[in-house]
Amino acid sequence: MNRIVTDKDTAAARKVFVKTYGCQMNVYDSQRMADALAAEGYVATEAIEDADLVLLNTCHIREKAAEKVYSELGRIRGIKAEREQAGRETLIGVAGCVAQAEGEEIIRRAPVVDLVIGPQTYHRLPDVVKKARAGAKVVETEYAIEDKFAHLPGQQAKAVRARGVTAFLTVQEGCDKFCTFCVVPYTRGSEVSRPVSQIVDEARRLADAGVREITLLGQNVNAWHGAGPDGREWGLGELLFKLAEVPGVARLRYTTSHPRDMDDALIAAHRDLKALMPYLHLPVQSGSDRILKAMNRKHTAAEYLQLIERIRTAQPDIAMSGDFIVGFPGESDADFADTMTIVREVGYAQAFSFKYSPRPGTPASERGEQVAEAVKNERLQELQALLTKQQHAFAESLVGREIDLLLEKHGRHAGQLIGRSPWLQPVIVDENAGGIGDIVPVRITRTGANSLFAEGV
Ligand code: SAH
Ligand code: SF4
Ligand code: F3S
Repeated sequence: MNRIVTDKDTAAARKVFVKTYGCQMNVYDSQRMADALAAEGYVATEAIEDADLVLLNTCHIREKAAEKVYSELGRIRGIKAEREQAGRETLIGVAGCVAQAEGEEIIRRAPVVDLVIGPQTYHRLPDVVKKARAGAKVVETEYAIEDKFAHLPGQQAKAVRARGVTAFLTVQEGCDKFCTFCVVPYTRGSEVSRPVSQIVDEARRLADAGVREITLLGQNVNAWHGAGPDGREWGLGELLFKLAEVPGVARLRYTTSHPRDMDDALIAAHRDLKALMPYLHLPVQSGSDRILKAMNRKHTAAEYLQLIERIRTAQPDIAMSGDFIVGFPGESDADFADTMTIVREVGYAQAFSFKYSPRPGTPASERGEQVAEAVKNERLQELQALLTKQQHAFAESLVGREIDLLLEKHGRHAGQLIGRSPWLQPVIVDENAGGIGDIVPVRITRTGANSLFAEGV
């Protein structure tokens, strides 16, 4: 690599631009990577043209996710060429699940890339960047033996403060469930839980920096189990009670959960722990037992419905959210009708639905009976119409009701603040309602396209 290092280069801080695709876990990882690089003298920038290091934190969950990355790399090639012509160092890195899945292939397909780093090795990022700066092409996708979380710098107060009053905290990573459609077990490795002490320390640092609401993250967050300070093994329910004691932490959430890991202690937390918000993302994927079996979800539609009934008995106010896949190989009209039925029976406040996308290396991708694209489109439209209707109906049902609102930031229009309802909806109020970070009682007055409007009470 032809690089001209000037005095100016060494004096001024180097800049890193991070772009995040995919799930909330990637959002969390991007912040931690920025923290790790800050310790090496990199400051974050929002302008890609100014970046000495561009990091794409990628997602591999569906087809278009990886394609978007390659087209972005094409665009970046021009920026890099221009900068290098002006004698400015420009390193391009690919992190995340595409990095893990594709490895060296990324550099072959996009030679503009200097470094590839998988999610299990982010604590080695400063080292990898050093090697890349010295001119090497680096691919780091081996599963690391050491604990990534223990070696990444903790959430820095200054950085957290700039990010606001809500924060993510990864407590569990990886997946051992091997649903037949899913790449996550291959890209994120097997299930690992962080110990209680590490999680509580991080929650304290977040709260000290002004965070009021923490969302615990994990690919299977409710499968979290960790060594407690008492030497016993704790489950997520117990952890939530412990985190609610951290001064400053007013609200807790967790995502994403698997129906098979909802244990009694966690359901009891929904009943007894006021700080735990009455909102649960519990994907079912399909309402057909035949398809659920082929997906290796290891539960039936009836079991899912019974589980929700138990949760609703414990916390009648709970709003359900979910994920759905249409057009899984072999899905018939009758199977799809079962999905529509389960959606009607549950009544979702919010949901995500996707067309099945064959992922290389997963069992479902190798099956015959792939569903035609046109059929997938039709089913997705029908399902989304129903889910949107349910979402609006839920929002409408809140009009007139008094709720607690966590004020998060200024709104788009002067004089407005935006907060979050207990059910994750954005709520717009007059700025006289309180200060950012306050939790204030408000009354919902009407619904907007994607938000609610409220007045102080
Ligand atoms: N661990 C979570 C989901 C993680 S992936 C769970 O088990 O519920 C997030 C969502 O992406 C999944 O719930 C699923 O709906 C969707 N998804 C995963 N793989 C997919 C694929 N191959 N095609 C389409 N959607 C997929
Ligand atoms: Fe993927 Fe299934 Fe694991 Fe969720 S539980 S991450 S869908 S393999
Ligand atoms: Fe995507 Fe990896 Fe998350 S595939 S959804 S970034 S775990």
